[in-house]
Amino acid sequence: MEHLERDVVVIGAGPSGLTAAYELNKAGKSVAVLEARDRVGGRTWTDVMDGATIEIGGQWISPDQTGLYSLINELGIETFERYKAGKSVYLNEQGEAIAYDGDDFPVAESTVAEMNKLISLMNELAAQMNPDTPWEHPQAEELDQISFHHFLRQHSDDELACNNVGLFIAGGMLTKPAHTFSALQAVLMASSAGSFDNLVDEDFILDRRIVGTMQGVSKAVAERLGDEIVFLNNPVLKLEWFDGGVVAHGQSVTVSAKKVIVAIPPNLYSRISYVPALPRKQHVTHQHQSMGLVIKVHAVYETPFWREEGLSGTCFGPNALVQELYDNTYTGESTGTLVGFISDLKADAMWELDEEARRAAILKGIAAYLGEKALDPKVFYLSDFAAEEWTRGAYATSYDLGGLYRFGPAQNENIGPIYFSSSDLAGEGFQHVDGAVRMGRRSAARIIAELDGTSYDESYDGVQTLTAIDDKVSA
Ligand code: FDA
Repeated sequence: MEHLERDVVVIGAGPSGLTAAYELNKAGKSVAVLEARDRVGGRTWTDVMDGATIEIGGQWISPDQTGLYSLINELGIETFERYKAGKSVYLNEQGEAIAYDGDDFPVAESTVAEMNKLISLMNELAAQMNPDTPWEHPQAEELDQISFHHFLRQHSDDELACNNVGLFIAGGMLTKPAHTFSALQAVLMASSAGSFDNLVDEDFILDRRIVGTMQGVSKAVAERLGDEIVFLNNPVLKLEWFDGGVVAHGQSVTVSAKKVIVAIPPNLYSRISYVPALPRKQHVTHQHQSMGLVIKVHAVYETPFWREEGLSGTCFGPNALVQELYDNTYTGESTGTLVGFISDLKADAMWELDEEARRAAILKGIAAYLGEKALDPKVFYLSDFAAEEWTRGAYATSYDLGGLYRFGPAQNENIGPIYFSSSDLAGEGFQHVDGAVRMGRRSAARIIAELDGTSYDESYDGVQTLTAIDDKVSA
């Protein structure tokens, strides 16, 4: 067992933990990162299958994600645009595939009007929210008492409009059924992306991808930190804490430090045994943050055949098994890759099937949009983060109904030397790599201020690197 002494120990080498370690290291603090897996990147992960680049976890970046943009700029990493040319396809309730242009689904005019009414309402509520403090929204208490499903139906009796708008947040983002989370949680999702309009605009929210893939961002940070700082295969299952610091017990490394950043998803906080136990408020809070469930489907073909037919590969079907589909061909590859998503209850049903039946059902679901050519991919792969010990769901955690208002205010409080950092605790960039980066920088800034006896600026949003701020101050 190796024993290290550091200013700060970080638990988890996902984007949040690595960004925190990077900032601490640049600020001259000694740091060690203990990671459970044999790789860095957490919920971002890449593999090459039969020559095609497959992003198994997080991958897209949108224009509002300026925290992540500033990190990749600093690392010299570039982005490329998602393929968007051509018509989209909408699968209606009768199972007919309808190719369409523009932003509105090809549904009855009255349904479009109802959808726009609901979207405007969500925009208004989101504009009144500071995503860092959603529990301070003027209607926070009342919005957290009603499920998003019932909230939508309170404001519209057009079932299809409610389903279509619900899809953007329920299946599309939180990956939970709309009856299991509150309207306040839905407003936070919109507010964290700037507006509900941004969320429903796939050309905005799924704008670009990373050259070298999203996991490549974590790899680049880890490389800069080096083997003396990042220790893989070191799950931390015990954390001793006291007034002056902590001892984190990894598999082969223990670290004594003045502070710890727990940079793991909130649903895994209770995997660690805290000695002494955490205060009751945190014990209870952490039980109300649960993972959603989504299957990310990857299908690779000899060519992107849909492009020849004037289709972008972007497809939506609120009632369909595969509710969203996109052209996900990696830059420079001649094969055609589609990525689809199967969320919550439909994902449960798919995991009940045997492998052959599951593959057949899912490919039939893709062919419903793009025709029979979709039935025979050369690579077929399902991302299964729910089966991963160190994640246990996808994409991220959110509060159960009523939890955000009741427990949210405690989520970012440090407990003595223990700080929590995750995309799932972020305001802007909530549940995204951008939020992970912002939270990593903010946790690092808070700790640096504590260690140096300086004050922490509560309004710091994690967009600029700490060194950029220092440069400005000293200039
Ligand atoms: P993350 O979970 O990434 O990292 C935590 C790390 O802690 C992991 O490496 C884990 O192994 C480690 N760990 C856990 N317990 C530990 C312990 N006890 N001891 C030591 N280590 C431990 N985002 C986005 O911006 N664009 C997108 O397109 C998508 N799409 C997407 C698809 C899928 C399928 C998923 C699963 C997720 C996304 N996301 C996304 C979300 C994005 O990937 C996510 O928000 C960030 O990876 C979160 O980063 P964190 O560092 O907070 O946690």
